[in-house]
This record gives sequence, structure tokens and C-alpha cells, in this order.
Amino acid sequence: MKRKIAIFASGNGTNAEQIIRQFKENANVCVALVVSNRQDAKVLQRADALGVPHRYVPRTDWADGEAVRVLMKEFAIDFIVLAGFLARVPDVLLHAYPQRIVNIHPALLPKFGGKGMYGDHVHQAVVAAGERETGITIHYINEHYDEGAIIRQFRCPVLPTDTPEAVAAKVHQLEYAHYPEIIRQLVEAL
Ligand code: GAR
Repeated sequence: MKRKIAIFASGNGTNAEQIIRQFKENANVCVALVVSNRQDAKVLQRADALGVPHRYVPRTDWADGEAVRVLMKEFAIDFIVLAGFLARVPDVLLHAYPQRIVNIHPALLPKFGGKGMYGDHVHQAVVAAGERETGITIHYINEHYDEGAIIRQFRCPVLPTDTPEAVAAKVHQLEYAHYPEIIRQLVEAL
């Protein structure tokens, strides 16, 4: 039986697309569902174009999480991947998927983490702080934003001349290079 991944995402979905493409060729693992908390998120169009089932779950249904839990059951999901997901994961899912929900953060946690630290806000803060390196953190999630156990980090230099956009581009390259592969290792080891 193939292991089934659900991806949760709120925005553009370039990471989601990389992950979907990686598992198209995998005999043991597939992306079975993409879920977004935003109806207009580009990630839903990407999933559609790639032939992956997708659902919009409105904000009100994330509070107790029961509707999402039922959705995970309907699609027999084994593992949940957050890829630019900007809402809180409900406790009911944390309990249903212990050590089976991972997130990617576009900086080296515990630096530049916490509520409000997402996407370009992170890269702006990294440049404003004069950091000489940044990177990505792949971690399990728990009930606190960006505080779950770290699985792996990957680093890249920040040059004095780098703009936040330049840093974002480097960080995205790290994400595409490593996130799908780490997910593969985790899911194949289940
Ligand atoms: C990614 O850089 C991801 O690390 C970040 O949002 C971006 C989503 O890009 N996630 C967070 O900031 C979570 N706190 P994408 O939609 O193109 O994959």
C-alpha cells in the first residue's frame, strides 16, 4: 500500500509543486491531497494542473479541526507536510498524527521564528539584523509556532549586498533541493 501525504499550504505553493513532482515517480509514496485555508491560494491551481485532489477548508473549520481530521480520514492520509501554511494546526490533528506533521521554516530556528515570522518577513528581518548566514529548518510541529523538534537544517551565506529578495531566492533553492528528499526519507521509514 502506498503511503499517502497531504500537503497544507496557504499561498503560492512552489514547494508543494516540487514535492508533488518528486512523488509522481515514487512507487511507495504519493501526494494524495492538497489542503488550503485560502480559497484563492495559487497552490490549489498548481495541484489541479498536476492532477492532485485539493480542498479549500475555510477559516471557521480550522478552529476545532474536526472537519480537517475527517478529510484526512477520507483520503487515508499517513503523513502531513506543511509548505507555506500560515494557520495554526488544530490540536486534534497533532494528536492524530504524532511525529507525522512536518513544517519548513525559511530561517535557522530558533532565530527568526514565532508568530508573524513567515515568508518575506523572515528574509527582511535576516537582512535587517545583518546576519551573515541563513537557511532552512525542517521540523516536527507541536502546539507552539516554530518550536517543534528540529529534523534538519541547511545553510546558505548572506552577503552584505544581498537584498531580502536575493536571500529569498537562495532560501527557496535550499527548500527545493532538500525538503522533498527529507520528506521521502521520513515517510519511507514509517
Ligand atoms: C516558504 O519559503 C516556506 O519556507 C515559508 O513560506 C514559503 C512558501 O513558499 N514558510 C513559512 O514562512 C512558515 N512560517 P511557497 O508557497 O512558494 O512554497
